[in-house]
Amino acid sequence: MAASKSIWFAGGCFWGTEHFFKGVDGVLKATAGYANGHLDRQPSYEDVYTDTTGFAETVEVAYDPARISLPELTDLYFAIIDPLSLNRQGGDAGTRYRTGIYYGPEEDLSLILPRYNAESERLGAPLAVELEPLRNFYPAEEYHQQYLDKNPGGYCHIPLAAFRYLRLYQDLKALLGDEPDLIARMASAAALLGERMKWHWTGFYRVIGEKLVLGPYCGPLACLRIGYGKGVCGTAWKERRTVIVPDVDRFPGHIACSSLSRSEIVVPLIKEGDVIAVLDIDSAETDTFGPDDARWLQKIANLTAQVSIP
Ligand code: SME
Repeated sequence: MAASKSIWFAGGCFWGTEHFFKGVDGVLKATAGYANGHLDRQPSYEDVYTDTTGFAETVEVAYDPARISLPELTDLYFAIIDPLSLNRQGGDAGTRYRTGIYYGPEEDLSLILPRYNAESERLGAPLAVELEPLRNFYPAEEYHQQYLDKNPGGYCHIPLAAFRYLRLYQDLKALLGDEPDLIARMASAAALLGERMKWHWTGFYRVIGEKLVLGPYCGPLACLRIGYGKGVCGTAWKERRTVIVPDVDRFPGHIACSSLSRSEIVVPLIKEGDVIAVLDIDSAETDTFGPDDARWLQKIANLTAQVSIP
């Protein structure tokens, strides 16, 4: 029997949150329920729906700590919510849809807090996400469990792309393991991203001296070298941030390796504080990439750049 620990995540409507965490490698069970309310008895969905019982729609995530860590689960949670939105996620509003991380043992707080603070720093604002000990949790009625499996067309506030990216991220993690060679890691990431997402061009440029030099990629031929601060790639390197270009014709200095490229995203790979490479993705359509893509592609870039993943 695997060791089991639990963490409770309120992330808006529990149907989607449960469905997402159920698919996370290392998660043993995800249970939809109601947490941190002020009734001393099992509430019904109707009780909670009144928005007067203090309960939040919450998912108990039981996991094997040998396979997935609490910091990693916390990061995945942040990837599927809007942490700045108070009492509203997707189309749902009310205190029952508030966001919260509710922990059991006190020592779990010290594992969650660095990721919580990093998220707040990344967004440059205090989070609307509660971070509190779990006071109570009641599993929801049976028809709410695995709701989206039972009702595949049911409402889910989590974008479908998150489920695709989660699979991709997990497959890449399993594939890379502790492979120490960066080129092998980049080649695997470029091939997997290219094959699954079918973008026009997906690949890496490595920082070598004063230039970005072409690395492993999937797609048509591309420029071999890009200068510091030049094009979208050189800008992401210089500014050490992800650059999203909805329309390449409107980005001054865009380097057109392929005339078919219409929009682009470039994510820096940062290791021990230095930009060591960039992940560059081109789409043949305009407006392909948004903040959700940025978030997942940053996770994928970090995974590629690091040999030991927490
Ligand atoms: N468009 C990039 C150059 C690289 S290719 O897209 C593969 C840029 O402006 O940096």
